[in-house]
Amino acid sequence: MLKGKRILLIVAGGIAAFKSLELIRRLRERGASVRCVLTESGAKFVTPLSLQALSEDRVYSDMFSLTDESEMGHIQLSRDADLLVVAPATADIMARMASGMADDLAATVLLATDKPVLAAPAMNVRMWTHAATVANVQTLKQRGVHFVGPNDGAMACNEFGPGRMSEPSEIADAIEGLLVPAAAERPLAGKRAVVTSGPTREAIDPVRYISNHSSGKQGHAIASALAALGADVTLVSGPVAIADPVGVATVHVDSADQMLAACLAAGRIDLAVCAAAVADWKAARPAGSKIKKKAGAPPPGIELAPNPDILATLSKPGPQRPALVVGFAAETENLVANAIDKRQRKGCDWIVANDVSPAVGTFGSERNTVHLVSASGVEDWPTLTKGEVAMRLAGRIALHFGLPPKAEAAE
Ligand code: C5P
Repeated sequence: MLKGKRILLIVAGGIAAFKSLELIRRLRERGASVRCVLTESGAKFVTPLSLQALSEDRVYSDMFSLTDESEMGHIQLSRDADLLVVAPATADIMARMASGMADDLAATVLLATDKPVLAAPAMNVRMWTHAATVANVQTLKQRGVHFVGPNDGAMACNEFGPGRMSEPSEIADAIEGLLVPAAAERPLAGKRAVVTSGPTREAIDPVRYISNHSSGKQGHAIASALAALGADVTLVSGPVAIADPVGVATVHVDSADQMLAACLAAGRIDLAVCAAAVADWKAARPAGSKIKKKAGAPPPGIELAPNPDILATLSKPGPQRPALVVGFAAETENLVANAIDKRQRKGCDWIVANDVSPAVGTFGSERNTVHLVSASGVEDWPTLTKGEVAMRLAGRIALHFGLPPKAEAAE
Protein backbone atom coordinates (compact mmCIF):
# COMPACT_ATOMS: atom_id res chain seq x y z
CA MET A 1 0.00 0.00 0.00
CA LEU A 2 2.97 2.33 0.42
CA LYS A 3 4.49 1.48 -2.96
CA GLY A 4 6.74 4.31 -4.13
CA LYS A 5 6.30 6.41 -0.97
CA ARG A 6 9.42 7.94 0.55
CA ILE A 7 9.64 8.21 4.32
CA LEU A 8 12.26 10.23 6.17
CA LEU A 9 12.49 8.59 9.59
CA ILE A 10 13.97 10.71 12.36
CA VAL A 11 15.20 8.58 15.23
CA ALA A 12 15.67 10.53 18.45
CA GLY A 13 17.18 9.39 21.74
CA GLY A 14 14.80 7.14 23.64
CA ILE A 15 14.75 3.49 24.59
CA ALA A 16 11.87 3.00 22.12
CA ALA A 17 14.39 3.60 19.30
CA PHE A 18 14.81 -0.17 19.08
CA LYS A 19 11.23 -0.32 17.73
CA SER A 20 12.22 2.06 14.94
CA LEU A 21 14.37 -0.71 13.49
CA GLU A 22 11.30 -2.88 13.18
CA LEU A 23 9.33 0.09 11.81
CA ILE A 24 11.79 0.34 8.91
CA ARG A 25 11.12 -3.31 8.09
CA ARG A 26 7.34 -2.91 8.29
CA LEU A 27 7.46 0.15 6.01
CA ARG A 28 9.70 -1.51 3.46
CA GLU A 29 7.47 -4.60 3.43
CA ARG A 30 4.62 -2.27 2.44
CA GLY A 31 6.67 -0.90 -0.46
CA ALA A 32 7.98 2.37 1.02
CA SER A 33 11.58 3.49 0.87
CA VAL A 34 13.02 4.73 4.15
CA ARG A 35 15.87 7.14 4.74
CA CYS A 36 17.01 7.79 8.30
CA VAL A 37 18.22 10.78 10.27
CA LEU A 38 19.73 9.76 13.60
CA THR A 39 20.21 12.28 16.41
CA GLU A 40 23.30 12.20 18.61
CA SER A 41 21.31 10.82 21.54
CA GLY A 42 19.44 8.43 19.23
CA ALA A 43 22.84 6.94 18.41
CA LYS A 44 23.20 5.96 22.08
CA PHE A 45 20.30 3.52 21.58
CA VAL A 46 20.65 2.27 17.99
CA THR A 47 23.63 2.32 15.68
CA PRO A 48 23.84 4.02 12.30
CA LEU A 49 24.91 0.65 10.90
CA SER A 50 21.64 -1.04 11.95
CA LEU A 51 19.58 1.74 10.40
CA GLN A 52 21.68 1.66 7.26
CA ALA A 53 21.45 -2.12 6.90
CA LEU A 54 17.67 -2.14 7.32
CA SER A 55 16.94 0.92 5.19
CA GLU A 56 19.59 0.04 2.59
CA ASP A 57 20.36 3.75 2.40
CA ARG A 58 22.90 5.96 4.05
CA VAL A 59 22.10 7.44 7.44
CA TYR A 60 22.35 11.18 8.06
CA SER A 61 23.42 12.54 11.43
CA ASP A 62 25.76 15.44 11.07
CA MET A 63 24.60 18.88 10.11
CA PHE A 64 28.09 20.10 9.38
CA SER A 65 29.36 17.13 7.39
CA LEU A 66 30.75 18.42 4.13
CA THR A 67 30.22 15.06 2.44
CA ASP A 68 26.60 14.82 3.58
CA GLU A 69 25.85 18.39 2.57
CA SER A 70 27.41 18.03 -0.85
CA GLU A 71 25.63 14.70 -1.49
CA MET A 72 22.28 15.69 -0.02
CA GLY A 73 21.86 19.14 1.52
CA HIS A 74 19.68 19.34 4.63
CA ILE A 75 17.01 21.31 2.75
CA GLN A 76 16.82 18.69 0.01
CA LEU A 77 16.76 15.95 2.65
CA SER A 78 13.73 17.63 4.21
CA ARG A 79 11.87 17.91 0.89
CA ASP A 80 12.90 14.65 -0.74
CA ALA A 81 10.28 12.64 1.13
CA ASP A 82 6.53 12.26 1.11
CA LEU A 83 6.36 12.24 4.91
CA LEU A 84 8.68 12.89 7.86
CA VAL A 85 8.20 10.50 10.76
CA VAL A 86 9.70 11.24 14.17
CA ALA A 87 9.92 7.92 16.04
CA PRO A 88 10.62 7.95 18.86
CA ALA A 89 9.48 11.55 19.35
CA THR A 90 11.09 12.33 22.69
CA ALA A 91 10.07 15.20 24.99
CA ASP A 92 13.30 16.90 23.97
CA ILE A 93 12.82 16.78 20.19
CA MET A 94 9.18 17.86 20.51
CA ALA A 95 10.26 20.84 22.66
CA ARG A 96 12.82 21.77 20.04
CA MET A 97 10.24 21.39 17.24
CA ALA A 98 7.72 23.50 19.16
CA SER A 99 10.20 26.30 19.75
CA GLY A 100 11.52 26.23 16.16
CA MET A 101 15.07 25.33 17.07
CA ALA A 102 17.57 24.19 14.47
CA ASP A 103 20.38 23.02 16.69
CA ASP A 104 21.01 19.68 15.01
CA LEU A 105 20.25 18.01 11.68
CA ALA A 106 16.96 16.45 12.85
CA ALA A 107 15.55 19.74 14.20
CA THR A 108 16.75 21.66 11.14
CA VAL A 109 15.19 19.20 8.73
CA LEU A 110 11.89 19.41 10.68
CA LEU A 111 12.01 23.20 10.55
CA ALA A 112 12.88 23.33 6.85
CA THR A 113 10.38 20.80 5.56
CA ASP A 114 7.31 21.51 3.47
CA LYS A 115 6.09 17.93 3.91
CA PRO A 116 3.66 16.48 6.49
CA VAL A 117 5.15 15.33 9.78
CA LEU A 118 4.01 12.41 11.94
CA ALA A 119 5.29 12.09 15.51
CA ALA A 120 5.22 8.90 17.59
CA PRO A 121 5.87 10.11 21.14
CA ALA A 122 7.75 7.94 23.58
CA MET A 123 8.72 8.98 27.07
CA ASN A 124 8.18 8.44 30.75
CA VAL A 125 4.59 8.99 31.90
CA ARG A 126 5.50 12.04 34.03
CA MET A 127 7.37 13.61 31.16
CA TRP A 128 4.37 13.02 28.88
CA THR A 129 1.89 14.55 31.35
CA HIS A 130 4.19 17.47 32.27
CA ALA A 131 2.62 20.85 31.45
CA ALA A 132 5.58 21.73 29.21
CA THR A 133 5.13 18.61 27.07
CA VAL A 134 1.34 19.02 27.00
CA ALA A 135 1.77 22.59 25.74
CA ASN A 136 4.37 21.54 23.15
CA VAL A 137 2.14 18.77 21.80
CA GLN A 138 -0.75 21.21 21.59
CA THR A 139 1.40 23.72 19.69
CA LEU A 140 2.61 21.07 17.28
CA LYS A 141 -0.94 19.79 16.69
CA GLN A 142 -2.10 23.34 15.98
CA ARG A 143 0.67 23.63 13.41
CA GLY A 144 -0.53 20.49 11.67
CA VAL A 145 1.86 17.87 13.05
CA HIS A 146 0.12 14.47 13.15
CA PHE A 147 0.44 12.17 16.16
CA VAL A 148 0.20 8.43 16.69
CA GLY A 149 0.12 7.25 20.31
CA PRO A 150 1.55 7.10 22.84
CA ASN A 151 -0.01 3.93 24.26
CA ASP A 152 -0.64 3.07 27.88
CA GLY A 153 1.38 0.31 29.44
CA ALA A 154 4.43 -0.78 31.32
CA MET A 155 7.53 1.27 30.62
CA ALA A 156 11.22 0.56 30.58
CA CYS A 157 11.54 2.75 33.70
CA ASN A 158 9.18 0.44 35.64
CA GLU A 159 6.36 2.97 35.70
CA PHE A 160 2.97 2.47 34.13
CA GLY A 161 0.77 4.81 32.07
CA PRO A 162 0.71 6.71 28.79
CA GLY A 163 4.11 7.19 27.19
CA ARG A 164 4.90 3.91 25.42
CA MET A 165 5.65 4.44 21.76
CA SER A 166 3.03 2.92 19.44
CA GLU A 167 3.93 -0.46 17.98
CA PRO A 168 5.67 -0.40 14.56
CA SER A 169 2.60 -1.82 12.80
CA GLU A 170 0.40 0.89 14.37
CA ILE A 171 2.82 3.57 13.19
CA ALA A 172 2.91 2.00 9.71
CA ASP A 173 -0.93 2.02 9.66
CA ALA A 174 -0.94 5.70 10.66
CA ILE A 175 1.55 6.44 7.86
CA GLU A 176 -0.68 4.60 5.41
CA GLY A 177 -3.67 6.60 6.66
CA LEU A 178 -1.81 9.82 5.89
CA LEU A 179 -0.31 8.83 2.56
CA VAL A 180 -2.83 6.50 0.97
CA PRO A 181 -6.11 8.13 0.04
CA ALA A 182 -9.33 6.38 1.06
CA ALA A 183 -10.95 3.97 -1.41
CA ALA A 184 -13.50 6.64 -2.41
CA GLU A 185 -10.63 8.77 -3.63
CA ARG A 186 -9.13 5.88 -5.59
CA PRO A 187 -11.83 5.26 -8.19
CA LEU A 188 -9.39 3.57 -10.57
CA ALA A 189 -8.16 1.03 -7.99
CA GLY A 190 -7.85 -2.37 -9.66
CA LYS A 191 -7.56 -0.88 -13.17
CA ARG A 192 -4.34 -1.50 -15.08
CA ALA A 193 -3.08 1.29 -17.33
CA VAL A 194 -0.25 1.85 -19.79
CA VAL A 195 0.82 5.40 -20.59
CA THR A 196 3.37 6.26 -23.27
CA SER A 197 5.32 9.48 -22.90
CA GLY A 198 8.20 11.47 -24.31
CA PRO A 199 9.87 11.22 -27.70
CA THR A 200 11.43 8.18 -29.29
CA ARG A 201 14.97 8.00 -30.65
CA GLU A 202 15.56 6.20 -33.89
CA ALA A 203 19.17 5.31 -34.47
CA ILE A 204 20.83 6.32 -37.74
CA ASP A 205 24.12 4.89 -36.56
CA PRO A 206 25.51 4.29 -33.03
CA VAL A 207 25.94 8.05 -32.41
CA ARG A 208 23.18 9.75 -34.40
CA TYR A 209 19.44 9.54 -34.14
CA ILE A 210 16.11 10.97 -35.32
CA SER A 211 13.96 12.42 -32.54
CA ASN A 212 11.71 15.35 -31.62
CA HIS A 213 11.17 18.01 -28.95
CA SER A 214 8.67 16.16 -26.73
CA SER A 215 9.47 16.81 -23.04
CA GLY A 216 7.31 14.01 -21.63
CA LYS A 217 5.72 16.44 -19.16
CA GLN A 218 2.12 15.78 -20.26
CA GLY A 219 2.45 11.99 -20.46
CA HIS A 220 4.27 11.76 -17.12
CA ALA A 221 1.61 13.98 -15.50
CA ILE A 222 -1.10 11.66 -16.83
CA ALA A 223 0.67 8.61 -15.42
CA SER A 224 0.86 10.35 -12.01
CA ALA A 225 -2.79 11.44 -12.13
CA LEU A 226 -4.01 7.93 -12.99
CA ALA A 227 -1.87 6.48 -10.19
CA ALA A 228 -3.25 9.10 -7.77
CA LEU A 229 -6.74 7.81 -8.59
CA GLY A 230 -5.59 4.31 -7.73
CA ALA A 231 -4.73 2.82 -11.13
CA ASP A 232 -1.85 0.40 -11.44
CA VAL A 233 0.19 2.32 -14.02
CA THR A 234 3.06 1.30 -16.28
CA LEU A 235 4.66 4.34 -17.86
CA VAL A 236 6.63 3.58 -21.02
CA SER A 237 8.89 6.56 -21.46
CA GLY A 238 11.20 7.59 -24.24
CA PRO A 239 14.36 9.53 -23.32
CA VAL A 240 13.31 12.55 -21.23
CA ALA A 241 15.03 14.91 -18.81
CA ILE A 242 12.34 14.66 -16.10
CA ALA A 243 12.13 12.30 -13.14
CA ASP A 244 10.13 9.07 -13.07
CA PRO A 245 6.78 9.78 -11.38
CA VAL A 246 6.33 8.43 -7.84
CA GLY A 247 4.08 5.38 -7.50
CA VAL A 248 4.30 4.41 -11.16
CA ALA A 249 6.31 1.57 -12.73
CA THR A 250 8.42 3.29 -15.37
CA VAL A 251 9.98 1.41 -18.28
CA HIS A 252 12.63 3.35 -20.19
CA VAL A 253 12.93 2.82 -23.92
CA ASP A 254 14.59 4.50 -26.86
CA SER A 255 12.93 3.51 -30.11
CA ALA A 256 9.32 3.10 -31.25
CA ASP A 257 9.87 -0.64 -31.67
CA GLN A 258 11.02 -0.86 -28.04
CA MET A 259 8.09 1.30 -26.92
CA LEU A 260 5.58 -0.99 -28.63
CA ALA A 261 7.27 -4.09 -27.19
CA ALA A 262 7.15 -2.59 -23.66
CA CYS A 263 3.45 -1.72 -24.06
CA LEU A 264 2.62 -5.24 -25.18
CA ALA A 265 4.79 -6.72 -22.39
CA ALA A 266 2.58 -4.96 -19.84
CA GLY A 267 0.00 -7.68 -20.61
CA ARG A 268 -3.71 -7.28 -20.16
CA ILE A 269 -4.67 -3.70 -19.44
CA ASP A 270 -7.92 -1.81 -18.95
CA LEU A 271 -6.75 1.42 -20.43
CA ALA A 272 -4.01 2.93 -22.57
CA VAL A 273 -3.08 6.57 -22.96
CA CYS A 274 -0.65 7.16 -25.82
CA ALA A 275 0.87 10.55 -25.13
CA ALA A 276 4.30 9.80 -26.59
CA ALA A 277 5.53 11.69 -29.63
CA VAL A 278 6.58 8.57 -31.49
CA ALA A 279 8.86 9.22 -34.45
CA ASP A 280 6.91 8.42 -37.61
CA TRP A 281 9.97 7.05 -39.35
CA LYS A 282 13.12 5.21 -38.46
CA ALA A 283 16.25 4.54 -40.48
CA ALA A 284 15.47 1.52 -42.64
CA ARG A 285 18.93 0.09 -42.03
CA PRO A 286 20.77 1.78 -39.16
CA ALA A 287 24.53 1.61 -39.69
CA GLY A 288 26.41 -0.67 -37.30
CA SER A 289 29.30 1.80 -37.01
CA LYS A 290 29.56 5.59 -37.20
CA ILE A 291 28.97 6.84 -40.73
CA LYS A 292 32.14 8.64 -41.78
CA LYS A 293 32.26 12.07 -43.36
CA LYS A 294 34.34 11.84 -46.52
CA ALA A 295 35.92 14.96 -47.98
CA GLY A 296 34.23 15.91 -51.22
CA ALA A 297 31.65 13.11 -51.00
CA PRO A 298 27.94 14.01 -50.93
CA PRO A 299 26.09 13.56 -47.64
CA PRO A 300 24.81 10.01 -47.16
CA GLY A 301 21.20 9.33 -48.02
CA ILE A 302 19.18 7.88 -45.16
CA GLU A 303 16.44 5.57 -46.29
CA LEU A 304 13.49 5.76 -43.92
CA ALA A 305 11.00 3.09 -42.98
CA PRO A 306 7.71 3.63 -41.12
CA ASN A 307 7.56 2.93 -37.41
CA PRO A 308 4.84 0.74 -35.94
CA ASP A 309 1.84 2.78 -34.85
CA ILE A 310 1.52 1.96 -31.17
CA LEU A 311 -1.83 3.69 -30.71
CA ALA A 312 -3.35 1.92 -33.72
CA THR A 313 -1.90 -1.42 -32.59
CA LEU A 314 -3.34 -1.10 -29.08
CA SER A 315 -6.69 0.04 -30.55
CA LYS A 316 -7.11 -3.04 -32.77
CA PRO A 317 -10.39 -4.79 -31.96
CA GLY A 318 -10.04 -8.14 -30.22
CA PRO A 319 -10.24 -9.79 -26.83
CA GLN A 320 -6.98 -8.13 -25.69
CA ARG A 321 -8.10 -4.60 -26.58
CA PRO A 322 -8.16 -2.30 -23.54
CA ALA A 323 -11.64 -1.04 -22.67
CA LEU A 324 -10.46 2.52 -23.27
CA VAL A 325 -7.70 3.74 -25.58
CA VAL A 326 -6.80 7.43 -25.61
CA GLY A 327 -4.54 9.04 -28.20
CA PHE A 328 -3.12 12.50 -28.65
CA ALA A 329 -3.12 14.69 -31.73
CA ALA A 330 -0.59 17.46 -31.93
CA GLU A 331 -1.60 19.58 -34.89
CA THR A 332 -0.61 22.95 -36.23
CA GLU A 333 -3.76 23.49 -38.33
CA ASN A 334 -7.38 22.29 -38.54
CA LEU A 335 -6.86 20.88 -35.07
CA VAL A 336 -10.30 19.50 -34.26
CA ALA A 337 -11.15 18.28 -37.78
CA ASN A 338 -7.83 16.42 -37.95
CA ALA A 339 -8.38 14.96 -34.48
CA ILE A 340 -11.85 13.67 -35.40
CA ASP A 341 -10.37 12.06 -38.48
CA LYS A 342 -7.43 10.65 -36.49
CA ARG A 343 -9.74 9.05 -33.90
CA GLN A 344 -11.42 7.06 -36.64
CA ARG A 345 -8.24 6.20 -38.53
CA LYS A 346 -6.44 4.91 -35.46
CA GLY A 347 -9.47 3.17 -33.98
CA CYS A 348 -9.01 4.70 -30.54
CA ASP A 349 -11.85 5.86 -28.31
CA TRP A 350 -10.74 9.38 -27.43
CA ILE A 351 -8.29 11.87 -28.84
CA VAL A 352 -6.82 14.69 -26.81
CA ALA A 353 -6.10 17.32 -29.42
CA ASN A 354 -3.57 20.05 -28.76
CA ASP A 355 -2.45 22.95 -30.86
CA VAL A 356 1.30 22.94 -31.31
CA SER A 357 1.44 25.81 -33.79
CA PRO A 358 4.34 28.16 -33.01
CA ALA A 359 1.86 30.79 -31.72
CA VAL A 360 0.69 28.41 -28.96
CA GLY A 361 3.82 26.28 -28.55
CA THR A 362 3.16 23.45 -26.10
CA PHE A 363 6.53 21.70 -26.42
CA GLY A 364 8.31 21.83 -23.08
CA SER A 365 5.84 24.38 -21.70
CA GLU A 366 3.91 23.95 -18.46
CA ARG A 367 0.53 24.74 -19.97
CA ASN A 368 -1.68 23.12 -22.55
CA THR A 369 -4.90 24.01 -24.37
CA VAL A 370 -6.68 20.84 -25.45
CA HIS A 371 -9.94 19.52 -26.86
CA LEU A 372 -11.27 16.11 -25.92
CA VAL A 373 -12.65 14.34 -28.96
CA SER A 374 -14.82 11.27 -28.39
CA ALA A 375 -17.68 9.50 -30.16
CA SER A 376 -20.08 11.80 -28.35
CA GLY A 377 -18.52 15.03 -29.55
CA VAL A 378 -15.82 17.59 -28.83
CA GLU A 379 -15.17 19.25 -25.48
CA ASP A 380 -13.09 22.42 -25.48
CA TRP A 381 -11.05 22.69 -22.31
CA PRO A 382 -9.66 25.98 -21.04
CA THR A 383 -5.90 26.55 -20.97
CA LEU A 384 -4.65 24.53 -18.01
CA THR A 385 -1.32 23.42 -16.60
CA LYS A 386 -0.23 20.02 -17.86
CA GLY A 387 -0.89 18.68 -14.34
CA GLU A 388 -4.45 20.02 -14.48
CA VAL A 389 -5.03 18.56 -17.95
CA ALA A 390 -3.78 15.24 -16.58
CA MET A 391 -6.08 15.35 -13.54
CA ARG A 392 -9.06 16.32 -15.63
CA LEU A 393 -8.35 13.54 -18.10
CA ALA A 394 -7.88 11.01 -15.28
CA GLY A 395 -11.20 12.23 -13.84
CA ARG A 396 -12.93 11.72 -17.19
CA ILE A 397 -11.40 8.25 -17.40
CA ALA A 398 -12.71 7.40 -13.92
CA LEU A 399 -16.16 8.63 -15.01
CA HIS A 400 -15.93 6.42 -18.09
CA PHE A 401 -15.34 3.43 -15.85
CA GLY A 402 -18.43 4.51 -13.94
CA LEU A 403 -16.73 5.75 -10.81
CA PRO A 404 -16.87 9.50 -10.35
CA PRO A 405 -13.91 10.90 -8.44
CA LYS A 406 -14.60 13.71 -5.98
CA ALA A 407 -13.16 16.46 -8.18
CA GLU A 408 -15.35 15.48 -11.13
CA ALA A 409 -18.46 15.26 -8.99
CA ALA A 410 -17.81 18.77 -7.72
CA GLU A 411 -17.33 20.25 -11.20
O1 C5P B 1 -0.14 9.91 -36.28
P1 C5P B 1 0.17 10.91 -35.19
O2 C5P B 1 1.60 10.89 -34.78
O3 C5P B 1 -0.30 12.30 -35.45
O4 C5P B 1 -0.72 10.39 -33.98
C1 C5P B 1 -0.53 10.82 -32.67
C2 C5P B 1 -1.02 9.79 -31.71
O5 C5P B 1 -0.63 8.51 -32.10
C3 C5P B 1 -0.43 9.99 -30.33
O6 C5P B 1 -1.34 9.48 -29.40
C4 C5P B 1 0.83 9.13 -30.41
O7 C5P B 1 1.24 8.72 -29.12
C5 C5P B 1 0.36 7.96 -31.24
N1 C5P B 1 1.37 7.34 -32.09
C6 C5P B 1 1.80 6.08 -31.79
N2 C5P B 1 2.71 5.46 -32.59
C7 C5P B 1 3.17 6.07 -33.70
C8 C5P B 1 2.74 7.37 -34.01
C9 C5P B 1 1.84 7.98 -33.18
O8 C5P B 1 1.38 5.53 -30.76
N3 C5P B 1 4.04 5.47 -34.45
